[in-house]
Amino acid sequence: MYSSTRLAKRLPGALKHQRTLATQSYASLVDLGKKHVTKGLGRQIEGVMTKGEGSYVTFGDGRRMLDFTTGIGVTNLGHCHPKVSAAAAKQCTEIVHAQCSLAFHEPYLQLIERLLPVMPDSSLDSFFFWNSGSEAIEAAIKTARTVTGKQNIIAMQGGYHGRTYGAMAVTKSKTVYSEGFHPLMPGVFSIPYPYWHQLGVDPSTDAATLTSMCLNQLNLILLQQSAPRDTAAILIEPFLGEGGYVQAPPEFLRGVREICDAHGILLIVDEVQSGFGRTGKMFNIEYSGVRPDILTCAKGLANGFPLSGVVSRRELTDQLKPGSMGGTYAGNAVACAAAVAVADAFKEERILENVQARSTELLAALNALKAKPALSSAILDVRGTGLMVAVEFASPTGTGPYDTFTDASVPKGLAARVAKRCHEKGMLILTTSVYEVIRFIPPLNVSQADLAKGVQIFAEAVEEVVREG
Ligand SMILES: Cc1ncc(COP(=O)(O)O)c(C=O)c1O
Repeated sequence: MYSSTRLAKRLPGALKHQRTLATQSYASLVDLGKKHVTKGLGRQIEGVMTKGEGSYVTFGDGRRMLDFTTGIGVTNLGHCHPKVSAAAAKQCTEIVHAQCSLAFHEPYLQLIERLLPVMPDSSLDSFFFWNSGSEAIEAAIKTARTVTGKQNIIAMQGGYHGRTYGAMAVTKSKTVYSEGFHPLMPGVFSIPYPYWHQLGVDPSTDAATLTSMCLNQLNLILLQQSAPRDTAAILIEPFLGEGGYVQAPPEFLRGVREICDAHGILLIVDEVQSGFGRTGKMFNIEYSGVRPDILTCAKGLANGFPLSGVVSRRELTDQLKPGSMGGTYAGNAVACAAAVAVADAFKEERILENVQARSTELLAALNALKAKPALSSAILDVRGTGLMVAVEFASPTGTGPYDTFTDASVPKGLAARVAKRCHEKGMLILTTSVYEVIRFIPPLNVSQADLAKGVQIFAEAVEEVVREG
């Protein structure tokens, strides 16, 4: 173990684990990172992660932490799932780089075989695998533009789709992603997401009201800013991720589909974060029964290996010119082999059943916390589907003078402070959105005991921070 008791002492609740980086002292390695890793990369906590096992991550200084971030919704079957790692290791001995524009490779095709039966609509039968979610969004936009012959994309306020130029242009969750990088890709418009806080209505506002407010804005956009004959696609996360962890009401999604159908507009459903079992079904869009024209997925697809998918129907993708899609590493064989193992594990280990059971426990525990008199004004909302769950706190200042959810009696910056306290107590957890929101993204196979442990850490953190004021 490193001679880093100083660091470990600063984290009293953290569990200790024996782990050694032989060549360098831990502190000097951290210093090297601080000095030489670009400042453009944000970081939640100080440290070097050296090992991941199931729901836990170990740092080089001995800290072993419960990981309720899953690396932002990626290691959905836990870190280094034995079957996934074994499949990847085996593929490494067969062929690593079987370039997708040279010929097919086996794991690519096996993955399509696994995915075809679980697609949310049987029309989704044409696959292109890439590396990241952002790249999948780029490909989806390109496809929509070329097959419709139209240019404009209508995105959602609060939506997050990535940091490359096209994806950045349709990202509307925080200005940090585009500030200083303009001009962005043109032809992008946005409407509000059916999220009470964005709309300035009460958290208990019913789905029908949220739906009609937002569909009204969509119709207005089509009348005032982007005519249907210029609008290629509407792009939506059915469960808003980076924008605040909000489930879109099924009736809203169905309304968007109807508007798309009425005007010859394609519907791009971004399931990069919500897909692959995260919300208790293979894809979140299944809750609404809506058919996407193009679906993007990534993250949990390969449990940590870089892989994304753009899925559409042959009728559309047959219009793409060969060579218009591609990429050196697109659909890497090792990543695809890992994804095949993920798909098999979903069935063999009854992952979706665990998501439903743990989700009920998590939401019940968080709602019980919200019901405590000492916390009732601090916690505004508990929400989520499956294991994509959020707690939204009140704020004394909100996002500005027109934010209707300010409460002077509540401490400032609750979400970031609670997240930091959870880190100190040995649990990794993330905030999200421009509001005071903490998101729970535990592994989909998290045990009942680890879930309860995470909830307890969170509850203690909230109670302490609110008490301290
Ligand atoms: C819904 C959604 N779309 C796209 C992306 C971009 O994916 P990536 O970071 O792999 O480029 C993300 C990443 O968080 C996401 O949550």
